[in-house]
Amino acid sequence: MDASVPTRRKTKSPQQAFLAKTFHWVNIVALVLMISSGLQIYNANPVFGGRGGWHFPDLVLLGGWLAGGRDWHFAIMWVYSLNLFWYGIYVFVTRRWQHRFASSSDLKAVKASQNIKRKNYAWHRLVYTAIVPILLLAIASGLAMYKPAQLHWLSGLFGNWQTLRTVHFITVPIVVGFTFVHSVMALRAGTIRLVKSMFF
Ligand code: HEM
Repeated sequence: MDASVPTRRKTKSPQQAFLAKTFHWVNIVALVLMISSGLQIYNANPVFGGRGGWHFPDLVLLGGWLAGGRDWHFAIMWVYSLNLFWYGIYVFVTRRWQHRFASSSDLKAVKASQNIKRKNYAWHRLVYTAIVPILLLAIASGLAMYKPAQLHWLSGLFGNWQTLRTVHFITVPIVVGFTFVHSVMALRAGTIRLVKSMFF
């Protein structure tokens, strides 16, 4: 072959750690089940105004009735929380937080970088880092409603019952909105190759 003809440069496909992919998969499946059973509880429970008021369509519900929705919600809560717990241990032990999560250099890049790729990547990291406390808040507010007598100190942190419920419910649209924004940002930051690397 003529050495002067340029050949297409092969870029390495992104690789993700097996444990990060496992966390990511389990987290997505658990969140879908948590949200659909949570909406079932909302629909079936007069306390939340669901029974007589506005209803979510059957298509997005899991559990069939109030007790069914609660059974699913509380069972999957273990999968969701333990998955997040083990991911936290993994991130801590391997010091993954030092290179995978947003840092001050990402904040600087968002404000001042002229490099559009660097800026996109910084936003992407800031967004997926910010969802972690929201995932923890969903657990804390859920536990505070689940066992308000035993965990009164936790429920007390939210002020009153209405605030506690509102905080727990608001984590749902945040997670749904995040999933959309995070998917678009992952595509912009690393194309479909990055997305595939996180799933397969
Ligand atoms: C359902 C909610 C989701 C949550 C809470 C979530 C959360 C996260 C977190 C915390 C990370 C960093 C993991 C690590 O490196 O240790 C991450 C990475 C990633 N996520 Fe998600 N994710 C969700 C859904 C999705 C979806 C639907 C997509 C794509 C369609 C996606 C694509 C990615 C990609 C490509 C990465 C790797 C980023 C990189 O290497 O720069 N995620 N996600």
